[in-house]
Amino acid sequence: MSLNASPKPPMKNLKLSKQRLDQLLTSLGYASRSESKKLIASGLVTVDGKQITKSDFKAFHHEVLFEGIPLDPPQGMVILMHKPVGLVCSHDDGEGQLVYDLLPVRWRNRDPKISTIGRLDKETSGLLLLTDDGQLLHRLTSPKYHVSKLYEVTLDRPLKGDEGSIFASGTLILNGEKTACLPAKLEIIDNTHVTLEITEGRYHQVRRMFAALGNHVTALHRSRIGDLTLGDLQSGEYRILAQEEIPN
Ligand code: URA
Repeated sequence: MSLNASPKPPMKNLKLSKQRLDQLLTSLGYASRSESKKLIASGLVTVDGKQITKSDFKAFHHEVLFEGIPLDPPQGMVILMHKPVGLVCSHDDGEGQLVYDLLPVRWRNRDPKISTIGRLDKETSGLLLLTDDGQLLHRLTSPKYHVSKLYEVTLDRPLKGDEGSIFASGTLILNGEKTACLPAKLEIIDNTHVTLEITEGRYHQVRRMFAALGNHVTALHRSRIGDLTLGDLQSGEYRILAQEEIPN
């Protein structure tokens, strides 16, 4: 689904390696290392149906139950979220309600932590990807990575008529930047509603592209990244991608 320059590294499948029980619980955010040791010692963990009280016991993620319930998803997950307007793509609580607040509380304590793959503005809704896979995050947010992203745009003022050709030309330079935006595809729905397909992720890119032509975006929604769409996900909902759906 991508035109990325670098080849995809081999998938690090952590399900294939055994981990210490205390490490497993701690990395998934269940408790601190010392608390995890206590939880295991008190008999809350089973491995393949057997109670294990030694925290240095090594097991595969899928073999472990905590209080009789399978563990949260292993490290390496990618989450597809339908971001509502008003939530912020930041880890900083001071910035308002966060997209991470939509996830289970325990997931906030995971290590490695879950981060958004790129950002949507507070006032933008739509498809947002998040992951705890640092290598994937790095690759998908690299300026060299070009995947098509589709935005539904509502404009304050009617189109003038030349927007489509200017965006497609690959010559539009945004305020404060030196290099032109890559060609982008505009489709007109009516004179204040369009879709715009871009393959970059510059800061506030869609809003700034229209601002550069004297217009103003009043509503913005991302409906697609590569082959991924929101499907039936309602605003505020999310799901974990299957391995074969993860962008490469
Ligand atoms: N372009 C924007 O202007 N804002 C977004 O949130 C995404 C793309």
